[in-house]
Amino acid sequence: MIYVLLLVLPAVSCFYVAPFILTFCGQAVGWYLRRKSRDRRAQLLARVQIEEEELHRGKKEEANVEEDGWETIESHVTGWATNGGKAPRDWEGVVGFFHPFCNAGGGGERVLWAAIRATQKRWPKAVCVVYTGDRDVDKSAILKRVEQRFNIHLHSPTIIFLYLSTRYYVLSSTYPYVTLLGQSLGSLIVAYDAFSLLVPDIFIDTMGYAFTLAFSKFLFPAIPTGAYVHYPTISTDMLGSLGEGGQGLNAGTGRGWRGKAKRKYWHLFARIYSWVGGGVDVVMTNSSWTQAHIRSLWGPARAERSKPSDVEVVFPPVAVEELERAVDVSAESERKRERVILYIAQFRPEKNHTLILRSFAEFLNQSPDKQPTKLALIGSVRHSDDATRVYDLRLLAHELKIKENVSFICDASWPEILDWLRKSWIGVNGMWNEHFGIGIVEYQAAGLISVVHDSGGPKEDIVVEFDGGPTGFRATTAPEFAEAFRKVFALSADETLLMRRRARASAGRFTEEAFARRWTSQVEQLVALESSSGTGF
Ligand SMILES: *[C@@H]1O[C@H](CO)[C@@H](O)[C@H](O)[C@H]1NC(C)=O
Ligand SMILES: *[C@@H]1O[C@H](CO)[C@@H](O)[C@H](O)[C@H]1NC(C)=O
Ligand SMILES: *[C@@H]1O[C@H](CO)[C@@H](O)[C@H](O)[C@H]1NC(C)=O
Repeated sequence: MIYVLLLVLPAVSCFYVAPFILTFCGQAVGWYLRRKSRDRRAQLLARVQIEEEELHRGKKEEANVEEDGWETIESHVTGWATNGGKAPRDWEGVVGFFHPFCNAGGGGERVLWAAIRATQKRWPKAVCVVYTGDRDVDKSAILKRVEQRFNIHLHSPTIIFLYLSTRYYVLSSTYPYVTLLGQSLGSLIVAYDAFSLLVPDIFIDTMGYAFTLAFSKFLFPAIPTGAYVHYPTISTDMLGSLGEGGQGLNAGTGRGWRGKAKRKYWHLFARIYSWVGGGVDVVMTNSSWTQAHIRSLWGPARAERSKPSDVEVVFPPVAVEELERAVDVSAESERKRERVILYIAQFRPEKNHTLILRSFAEFLNQSPDKQPTKLALIGSVRHSDDATRVYDLRLLAHELKIKENVSFICDASWPEILDWLRKSWIGVNGMWNEHFGIGIVEYQAAGLISVVHDSGGPKEDIVVEFDGGPTGFRATTAPEFAEAFRKVFALSADETLLMRRRARASAGRFTEEAFARRWTSQVEQLVALESSSGTGF
């Protein structure tokens, strides 16, 4: 009897004590990392001070010119934010952005830079640190590229780039098998690398490495964490696709013992991923689609740990303001518009140009008034596959006997595209389940009436009622699209202009200003958490 107790007692106590030991170890390592990077932190902050003063001196000589018309927004955001009284305007902490591929120049990077710009405007004394693996480019080169590529001007002194030497561990090519798990665990090594360079006061992942956020909580429980999620690492669609009758890349691979193993692995991964997401303080997603997936994956774990903030959509910024300036929407400009249906999309199969051609043919065959109407297809042709597709589409137009009424415009320049946006009537999109649809926001900003596929982002986020009225039409099949075209052309002049104005106003939800406002309101929660936890140095 006594022997049994002797055996069981340590086992039981081990079971209860182990979590404490683990927590203690995590915090000990966190403490060590803080100490280790303390001197560097002081140095970096001193350098910020020096650069700030230098820039100030230079500016004085140049006179006070503000390069982007943003100051009005700043005061707007600030006025609104101080009402809450929780997040101090002069907060001086360090915000760490985990973005190992910051120089890639894609949509995700646009969000990163816009986010940093908004943070800088809201908290002029805060320092933004970007952990990046682009070791071959220096700060001035990165900032220059950001200006050229995205027209975003960052305040140089308060942004710091820290270079990771371990980015290799998050490359998918590093893990030929179990890629998801490999990359996720690999991201922990990269995060350790990041923290040993500098421990931030707020830690935000903008690339989808959610595991790094859990790791941050493990090492530094008091540091608030945020995630901006473009795409869930594993989606509920993926889990579904393994089963019978699934769609997509993994369709039907759920059979046999390998399939079984794969399914087990994915489900296990989804559980870990859900647990990881449960610990993130503030979660933002780039669309309603991603929000729905993240809610279903992370929601239960978040509720369990009673995280107060919901998963919020913060739409990425689209160059709406530029289009508003370039394209007029008024009674005057109505006279310059022609009966042109415009489709701006790359010539890729999923854009379903075929559907749009068929719809247009059906519309022409059935339209009673026989007014001249045109379909314009604008897209880039990147390689010979695209060129073949354009050729096939021309053949189809010929077959449908609408060749004379369809224009193909390949590789149009931006001024040419603006011309089309000025003179077209309808903007169309035929892709099924597009996650968002920046092109459709651009139609709206240019005052086109949208006729879009009734699915995905266009349905959830973009072509929705606004100001108590529709901003366009949605359709699924060729007859439905044809019907929608008919409806648009049947609107009276007044109704048409009203709808154009509503569409433009609706695009206002996706401006850089709207992004900045939503972003800062989310980050304010993190700043408030940080200020109240008082872990400053
Ligand atoms: C969100 O990110 C995903 C993945 O990068 C992208 O496919 C989608 O278009 C993005 N949504 C928006 C609104 O930009
Ligand atoms: C294009 O749309 C048609 C009609 O909805 C559909 O049957 C077809 O599968 C679509 N093609 C692609 C490539 O999505
Ligand atoms: C189609 O193009 C032909 C040739 O340019 C023209 O005669 C005809 O009116 C056009 N049809 C419509 C409905 O626009």
